[in-house]
Amino acid sequence: MQRTYLALGAALLSVFALSSMPATAQAKKAKPCYSKTLAEEADAKQAKYKISKGKNIDVAINESLTGKPGDPKKGLEWIVNRKLGNCIACHKVEAILKLVKPGDLKSQAKYGFHGEVGPELDGVASRYTEGELRMLIVDPKKVFPDTIMPAFHKDGPFVRIKENCKGKVMLSPSRVEDVVAYLKTLK
Ligand code: HEC
Repeated sequence: MQRTYLALGAALLSVFALSSMPATAQAKKAKPCYSKTLAEEADAKQAKYKISKGKNIDVAINESLTGKPGDPKKGLEWIVNRKLGNCIACHKVEAILKLVKPGDLKSQAKYGFHGEVGPELDGVASRYTEGELRMLIVDPKKVFPDTIMPAFHKDGPFVRIKENCKGKVMLSPSRVEDVVAYLKTLK
């Protein structure tokens, strides 16, 4: 009997301890949408943009989302990053495969293993204008309504999105511009 009371007391005590935990300790439990290294995305809001008529396709976003041109070197990083663009999971790009050094596993892991679900991206700058490329990254569904390619700069509406990812975009405005800048080198 005494033991039962002891156990009950201990249980009550732990419930009390949990509920009186400081708010900050409790807040820590909510997982962020993106990992620390991708903190930029955690705060990235969808930029305002204007859709214009394209030349090769119906739609284009002709103005930079940041008002500035992006950095192609960074763009390559976001394209191969498995936690960001991961574009090579679906697209083969010869220009990126060339960066794999024979016998170097690290460069192979970073630049190798391309999927072939989508079209090859080599020569994409000759097929589309800069504004069309931007449109294709921001929201490819505007171009190919049934595509499986993700909309990289869209904050919704989505179905069954993780609570902590609501209102967030996959690529920040500056990262979209970096990716566009890299694609422009694929003539
Ligand atoms: C889940 C697979 C997938 C991922 C990830 C993906 N794409 Fe795509 N993408 C496609 C498919 C499929 C198409 C072809 C459109 C269609 O569905 O008809 C396409 C089309 C394109 C096109 C037009 C190509 C052409 O020649 O018509 C571009 C440019 C492009 N993607 C760039 C990117 C970039 C840059 C990324 C990464 C930021 C990316 N894609 C990520 C599947 C993907």
